[in-house]
Amino acid sequence: MNSQRLNFLCNLIPLDKKVIDIGTDHAYLPIMLYQKGIIKVMGSDIHQKALDMAYKNIISHNLELDIPLVLSDGLKDIDTKDYNTLVLAGMGFMTIKHILDLKDKLEPINTIYIQSNNDYNKLRSYMNENKWILKNEYIIEEKKIIYHIMEYERGEEKLREEEILFGKKQEKYVKYYQLELNKLEKILNLIPKYQKEERKIIKHKILLLQNYLR
Ligand SMILES: C[S@@+](CC[C@H](N)C(=O)[O-])C[C@H]1O[C@@H](n2cnc3c(N)ncnc32)[C@H](O)[C@@H]1O
Repeated sequence: MNSQRLNFLCNLIPLDKKVIDIGTDHAYLPIMLYQKGIIKVMGSDIHQKALDMAYKNIISHNLELDIPLVLSDGLKDIDTKDYNTLVLAGMGFMTIKHILDLKDKLEPINTIYIQSNNDYNKLRSYMNENKWILKNEYIIEEKKIIYHIMEYERGEEKLREEEILFGKKQEKYVKYYQLELNKLEKILNLIPKYQKEERKIIKHKILLLQNYLR
């Protein structure tokens, strides 16, 4: 399983966690987690075809008795009571939100790892409103694609507007945000002067990001 992204995720998760990997697809992550020493781990997916592939992979590692697989839309058909950790990776924000909106099933869960494919600002805002603390956010690059991996724990905090937009400031990622700033400045140059509202929004983001980088 040659995925830097999944390896990174796997390394983040402590050995004592009890993990549900939602949208597991090929079940690479549950297999990696089990091999690392996490003994309570399951995978689930909304598509039977994905689970067929997952099952094949699990059998090829002789783990069919160790890693349960469940067909489910998000947490709907999963008994979450023996688990405390969720992984949601490789999905878009709207799917992630749909999954996390099923609040009853989330009760035993105290840690969530999310690698969304898009809309990081909407995700940060949603998690903040729903009483999850952004404990860590990691930015990694694989084959020229940038991924954000967020680690959430239960609790309350008030993120500022710039933290919702760009995450909590971390010196190690300043270079990445400098590139974001360059992108925004290029976008602003491409918006004609008469599109005042669009320019205003981008200018506001540029200002926030400039302050954020100070
Ligand atoms: C791109 S794959 C990501 C696979 C793996 N998590 C990874 O990061 O490499 C997304 C998977 O999410 C599944 N999925 C999409 N919506 C879902 C939902 N509501 N509940 C469970 N799984 C879902 C898809 O069937 C697909 O297998």
